[in-house]
Amino acid sequence: MPITFNAEKKTFKLDTPTSSYIIKIYDKGHILNLYYGATIPDDEVPGRATRRVNASFSPQDPAMGGRSPFSPDCAPMEYGTNGAGDFRISALSARNAAGDSVTDIRYTGHKIYKGKKEIPGQPSTYANTDDEATTLELYAADRVTGLKITLYYTVFENCGVMTRRVSAQNGGDAPMQLERIMSLCLNLPTMDYDLITLYGRHMKERNLERRALAHGVQGVESKRGVSGHCQNPFAALAEKNATEQNGTVYGFNLVYSGNFSALCECDSNDTARFIMGINPTDFGWTLNPGESFDSPEAVMVFTDKGLGEMSRIFHRFYNHNLIRGKYKTEKRPLLINSWEAAFFDFDDNKLVDFAKEAKKLGVEMLVMDDGWFGKRNDDTTSLGDWFVNEEKLHGSLSSLIERVNAEGLKFGIWYEPEMISPESELFKKHPDWHVHVENREPMLGRNQYVLDVSREDVRENIWQQMYSVLSNNKIDYVKWDFNRNISDAGSALLPPERKKEFFHRFILGTYDLMDRLCKAFPNILFENCSGGGGRFDPAMLFYSPQIWCSDNTDPIERLYIQFGTSMCYPASTVGAHVSANPRTGYKTKGNVALWGTFGYELDPVKLSDDDREIMKAQVKLYHETYDLVRDGDLYRLISPFENPYHAVWEIVAPDQSRVMLTIVTMRSELFGNTIIKLQGLDPQRYYRNEASGEVYSGALLMNAGLNFSDVANRDGDSAIIFFSAV
Ligand code: GLA
Repeated sequence: MPITFNAEKKTFKLDTPTSSYIIKIYDKGHILNLYYGATIPDDEVPGRATRRVNASFSPQDPAMGGRSPFSPDCAPMEYGTNGAGDFRISALSARNAAGDSVTDIRYTGHKIYKGKKEIPGQPSTYANTDDEATTLELYAADRVTGLKITLYYTVFENCGVMTRRVSAQNGGDAPMQLERIMSLCLNLPTMDYDLITLYGRHMKERNLERRALAHGVQGVESKRGVSGHCQNPFAALAEKNATEQNGTVYGFNLVYSGNFSALCECDSNDTARFIMGINPTDFGWTLNPGESFDSPEAVMVFTDKGLGEMSRIFHRFYNHNLIRGKYKTEKRPLLINSWEAAFFDFDDNKLVDFAKEAKKLGVEMLVMDDGWFGKRNDDTTSLGDWFVNEEKLHGSLSSLIERVNAEGLKFGIWYEPEMISPESELFKKHPDWHVHVENREPMLGRNQYVLDVSREDVRENIWQQMYSVLSNNKIDYVKWDFNRNISDAGSALLPPERKKEFFHRFILGTYDLMDRLCKAFPNILFENCSGGGGRFDPAMLFYSPQIWCSDNTDPIERLYIQFGTSMCYPASTVGAHVSANPRTGYKTKGNVALWGTFGYELDPVKLSDDDREIMKAQVKLYHETYDLVRDGDLYRLISPFENPYHAVWEIVAPDQSRVMLTIVTMRSELFGNTIIKLQGLDPQRYYRNEASGEVYSGALLMNAGLNFSDVANRDGDSAIIFFSAV
């Protein structure tokens, strides 16, 4: 059993194939974390329940006697609370009706069972069968306020993943306010780690940043109403000398698309506490007696085999236990998107011409991006008016789709459902439906307001409008966009004591709308987007199996974006298109986009004959490598963040029978040697270079490597080399 309870020692042991996690119930019901790391035997209990207390300055529970070696100040509290002797950054704080926010929870019971429950109204990872996962529910309560807490831990038996979440219930007889409720809290006995996070901005998402932990609080957050371009809800703590291939790494990812915090505090005892969950700034939740609140889920990965292995564990887990629906397994159509080809300047004939030319390249679906609805011919109007602009399309949407279908292509469409233009029919009818606070004119972003989807009536209106278009037309794909961040956060319907609930209610509203659409249209492929990758997070992946990774389609910039994104997100989720961006030729654009969902974002009518031939070959390669890219294991061999000349990665088939090695030269190095050592092969097997016919042992390819100095050695050039087992 991967989760066991030792009644004598009062310990829980949670084992994944790569890790053990040990919780102890201490004398007076305090819940402590004794260990999280590489697997240890069942009968051993690490002795870190207590540390030296800081003399008179560390508060002690009088029930334990004045000279107890235990103080919440110094103990590895499993779920640190506010105000009851633990001065580190807390995971939980509830303010009671008297206005006090001292929160002290003690163990009251537990339950262990096979399988994993859903979180009502929220996305989460899932077990395909109950055999795949085991769950521990640990119950705790604050005996003064009556606050009841359930800590959920699910262990996945086939991969090194544990998920965690928390729910709170008001078991008292007066209302209370939740002020903080983190999804995970983890105490590590040392602070000898680097914190790795993904920073960026629009057009430059998910750059890798690595810093040594220092005393005090450090970390990343979002207050934008979305997970955001600027920081991703991912963090890793890596041993100082951990590399791609070696060393202890803890990876964390929050299944949440709203404001988040991922913070680490190192205290005066040189220990580290990591917390991750809803950002407590601008958050609060009123719990009336009997009411409960569910935190989002956090995913934790442990490995002692380096950052590369951490990523591969995330990738396999998300492909298997997060992505849902038809397109989890079914091959996704190869698409061309109209945005960079035409922006708002299109009509039916232009789109049909795109379809005709794209078909010749082997493309399978045309996506009509922004500009098909209301009076939208630029970005100043019509968001919220989701009815077809028949004047622009010279007829109905159905007739356009029929013409595109007649060219042999499927048809996709763009939406930005959570937005409203002040210049729109919807705004005229409902001038109070946008996110705003009373007596304050809200800020605009890209000429638009955010629609208050925390409101059911607002959601219902958008749902009706979308349902009408999607059910009356043969639509195979929807791109769901979100093109600004949320300022002036407020909802006209919330009473003053619930105003702080807005941000979370907003994201629950988004989930609700997405859930309804996924259920009503199970055959539609959804692609998420937020000005590129502004909402690239596991919560969105629960509703859409792919996300447009960035509006930046420059293949060299994409190397950084895709290397960073791959820290936890698999290639199957990374929207990557070949565009007309001038930096490199089409070969390199294609080779970079093949590490993703692959597609086109250009005007196919304007292509030269030579480029057309390159693309036909690319499309052939896309089909041939589809399964390998989606199911294979990614190895980041040379990172653009560390090497100014090359970016190199490799995808290895799960049975190690084939390898796809991609080399991109960002800047050529005169007389430089490019020795590349492959990874993840079977050292005992022999592999043939499919182009040259040369045969090498897996051991040689991995240990000695090969000299690729003559391959793709001009600026912006690239090559894909396949090796297959003989
Ligand atoms: C965002 C998306 C683009 C495109 C435009 C349309 O910026 O990232 O791909 O859809 O919106 O307005």
